[in-house]
Amino acid sequence: MLPPHTMPFHNPALFARNETMMRSLRDLLGSYGLIDQPDQMSGYAADWSGVSPGLPLAVARPASTAEVSAVVRLCAEHGVPVVPQGGMTGMAGGAMSLGGELLLNLSRMNRVVDVDLLNQTMTVEAGCVLQQVKDAAAAAGAYFPLALGAQGSCQIGGNLSTNAGGVNVLRYGNARSAVLGLEVVLADGEVLNLMRGLRKDNTGYDLKQMFIGAEGTLGVITRAVLQLYPMTPASSTAWIAVDSPSAAVELLRHLRARVGERISSFELISRPMLELVLAHHQQGRDPLTEPHPWYVLTEWSDSMASLDLRAQMEHVLGEALEAGLVRDATIAESLAQVGQFWSLRERVTEAQRAEGAIVKHDIALPLSKVARFLDDAGAFIAATLAGARVIVFGHVGDGNLHYNVLQPRGAAAKDFELAMKAVSRRVYEMVSELGGSISAEHGLGQLKAQQVFALKSRTELRVMQALKRALDPQDLMNRGKLLPHPTERNP
Ligand code: FAD
Ligand code: MLT
Ligand code: ZN
Repeated sequence: MLPPHTMPFHNPALFARNETMMRSLRDLLGSYGLIDQPDQMSGYAADWSGVSPGLPLAVARPASTAEVSAVVRLCAEHGVPVVPQGGMTGMAGGAMSLGGELLLNLSRMNRVVDVDLLNQTMTVEAGCVLQQVKDAAAAAGAYFPLALGAQGSCQIGGNLSTNAGGVNVLRYGNARSAVLGLEVVLADGEVLNLMRGLRKDNTGYDLKQMFIGAEGTLGVITRAVLQLYPMTPASSTAWIAVDSPSAAVELLRHLRARVGERISSFELISRPMLELVLAHHQQGRDPLTEPHPWYVLTEWSDSMASLDLRAQMEHVLGEALEAGLVRDATIAESLAQVGQFWSLRERVTEAQRAEGAIVKHDIALPLSKVARFLDDAGAFIAATLAGARVIVFGHVGDGNLHYNVLQPRGAAAKDFELAMKAVSRRVYEMVSELGGSISAEHGLGQLKAQQVFALKSRTELRVMQALKRALDPQDLMNRGKLLPHPTERNP
């Protein structure tokens, strides 16, 4: 899936091109590994955040850790900031240029280096596309559980750098949970080799964890040792109608008590989201005969091939129906129908984009506060922004909602985006008041970087800044993202 469109660069002010450095880069990477003509760089200038990028100095496309190390060392010598880039599916603008940096795109480093079934590990380069990693694991008879709508384009380096979530976090955790070893090129070009595949290693600080979720601000991830899991040949998927988000949360509690960790996914879908997808997805069909206000898409799986999960699902959902937890439900009869259910869920990102301007809130809440937030935020937006359409969906099993607001029909996009600034501020205040997070899985990137100053306690901020200073004293790694330099703080 390519980035949806390439934005015209803003901020054409180039750093004074340092010809000595450019010559060294060209000698190092060759013409195939370095792109330095603006008209050839547009393919590296759009992710899914919608930010309009600055004009980078150039795009480096290294083919090995050694080349990444040499490039970063050169940038450190010349004081040129570096932006690590993966599949550019990010939703916070973290991989986009702010202007003048060297984009360091890992796409050419896309080898699956090793699959070790006895140790249940897989060694991959950062530029491997997530789907490629999942397929290689499956081909070897194992399962790599990270699963998200962008898996056809996003790369492992980006997944680890954003600590990606997706639809299987409920059972397998975020990207962080699947990492046993890491190789990182530090801001001075030195290679930090933490490529161990051990489950237990208590010999000092667990350094790899600092780089997972750091959004490229502490170093460039070049390789990883990933944890593999047993395949789950037994599975069953249902599309369920419920009365409300609180009914969905109550249903999750009911199901967990009966099938526990076999629940791999538990996605909440609002009626407006389903209608939006059906409006843009010609082959899409409502899985149920009657419209309902809310739905849950849940998938159960198990490693025991002989287990009849479908029968178990039928029995447990029948109980839930009798208990009034569920209004209606349909269990997929075939893999094709499983695919139909999931495509209704995953097509939302593109369907939203087709509707015009959109402001996304990727939030996490305690499960017990989800219903309260939706009531309060919905009432606030209805009273503040007439005609705004709220699309709610997401990984409610993890307390993670995608609370997205679409431009009112007929409104000008610019007016909507302006009005939404105050609305988003209030939405995030509500989330914080309910003990939630303003970025559940997409990270802070550039879109929410300034919020870090309000979000974090003085002590938390002090430790984060001390870490950043220690590892990147020149502030070259993804400058202005996640943790802007204190001098960059907006008043
Ligand atoms: P990029 O966008 O290229 O970069 C993201 C960040 O990682 C940037 O800060 C960049 O500097 C940094 N980075 C990239 N590579 C490296 C590296 N090698 N070393 C250090 N830093 C690096 N996200 C979720 O978490 N859950 C979802 O369910 C989900 N669904 C999505 C569905 C769709 C349709 C789309 C378009 C996106 C979705 N996303 C989701 C967002 C996005 O896919 C994830 O954030 C993903 O992990 C980004 O990977 P990427 O390779 O595209 O990273
Ligand atoms: C998803 O879960 O689909 C994405 O994280 C959110 C989005 O596309 O808005
Ligand atoms: Zn998501």
